[in-house]
Amino acid sequence: MDVEKVVKLMIEYFGNDVKRINHALKVHGFAKNIARMEGLKGEVMLVLEVAAVLHDIGIKESERKYGSSAGNYQELEGPKVALELLEGLDLPEGFRDRVAYLIGNHHSYDKIDGIDFQILVEADFLVNIFEDSMWESQVESIKKKYFFTKTGTDYLCMLYEV
Ligand SMILES: [Fe+2]
Repeated sequence: MDVEKVVKLMIEYFGNDVKRINHALKVHGFAKNIARMEGLKGEVMLVLEVAAVLHDIGIKESERKYGSSAGNYQELEGPKVALELLEGLDLPEGFRDRVAYLIGNHHSYDKIDGIDFQILVEADFLVNIFEDSMWESQVESIKKKYFFTKTGTDYLCMLYEV
């Protein structure tokens, strides 16, 4: 299975929502690079890439159902949409469960339980800090609380001068 197929499914699902497509591609780009630099390979690498591409896939359903794109609604709706999109793909046992767990908890930082989850969180922050024009004090606190990989921390420091 290659990630390109998942990227295509994500683009088709978001359609003309270019902002969300760009967000997913950026988070995937950072996640993939951090993971490679940190030595990830094989299935854990693929899980992370697929989860990064699909991490915000619940946003449309949460807007439709609850009129809100808040993180907790996205977490609630994301796994189901992701599993539907992945249905026709040939994936190893347990793969879907882990992808669903990452998507369903990617704003619940107390649930981080592995390097794939950790890197997804760092990549999402690297993109969101810019997209949401966060203050330097917020970036400082994010750095202290949520950044643990060497590569992710280096990128955070370079990009946002903290
Ligand atoms: Fe995101």
